[in-house]
Amino acid sequence: MKMTVIGAGNVGATTAQRIADKELAHEVVLVDIAEGIPQGKGLDMFESMPVEASDSRIIGTNTYEETAGSDFVIITAGLARKPGMSRDDLLAANAKIVGSCAENAFKYSPNAFYIIVSNPLDVMTYVTLQKTGLPRNKVLGMAGVLDTARYRTFIAMELNVSVEDIQAFVLGGHGDTMVPLPRYTTVAGVPISELIPQDRIDAILHRTRNGGIEIVNHLKTGSAYYAPSASAVQMVECIVKDKRRILPCAVMLKGEYGLNDIVVGVPIKVGKNGMEEIFQIELSEAEQAELNKSAEDVKVNMDKLASMQY
Ligand code: LAC
Repeated sequence: MKMTVIGAGNVGATTAQRIADKELAHEVVLVDIAEGIPQGKGLDMFESMPVEASDSRIIGTNTYEETAGSDFVIITAGLARKPGMSRDDLLAANAKIVGSCAENAFKYSPNAFYIIVSNPLDVMTYVTLQKTGLPRNKVLGMAGVLDTARYRTFIAMELNVSVEDIQAFVLGGHGDTMVPLPRYTTVAGVPISELIPQDRIDAILHRTRNGGIEIVNHLKTGSAYYAPSASAVQMVECIVKDKRRILPCAVMLKGEYGLNDIVVGVPIKVGKNGMEEIFQIELSEAEQAELNKSAEDVKVNMDKLASMQY
């Protein structure tokens, strides 16, 4: 396996490190426009491999030649949020950046899976689909795994139990209108409604929806990267190992969940072909309405793109 990570900022570098530490690839290429940064971080990471007992080779570069023939391209490039900014505020700048990254990477790696991490996430996944022309099973946006990880963490904190025992997922766009589904959230199989009072569940849902900005407000100069990189690498690992796990990912919908030609987060089966299938679960009327609202918010940005040069 050869994997390219575009963007050597915190998210990209941490993603490359996790891939190398887990030895998921024999070669990891870290690409960034900033001179010296991918080279320095890449070499530093490579030098940690004897200690980690991994034979991943990490190469840092400013050009795309070295990325040729990658099996995975993970796009993390773009501006991150500062306090007071929404993910949508990044639309115009990041559409240009992600569009050119996708185009350049695709020239050298037309058979790769593309995992998108840049914000606004759902729209950047759409940009990558457009720029590469790849089928939808090969272009997946990372958001649902992250949002679900935050949700699971908050439930584990509330009950003081293992994070591992929390099963949950979050649907919809990676924005303020994401849709965590308490009805499908359990602790070792027990529905959370039997364990946590409704007002506390509501507080957890609120914290989940604002999980990204909570970190931005702490850091002030950037946004989260440990949980985002862990989430992206889980998607990569599921494909590499053909695990067929059910993970919420942003994908292009073609009528599923009553939504058409829109990229939004839904549970999918992740295996050796990327998205193996879209998992259709029963939603209540209220849940479907929330998903529609979230999809509508993504659509507004997709429509804005139409009038932009990127
Ligand atoms: C977050 C940003 C990365 O949710 O979207 O932390």
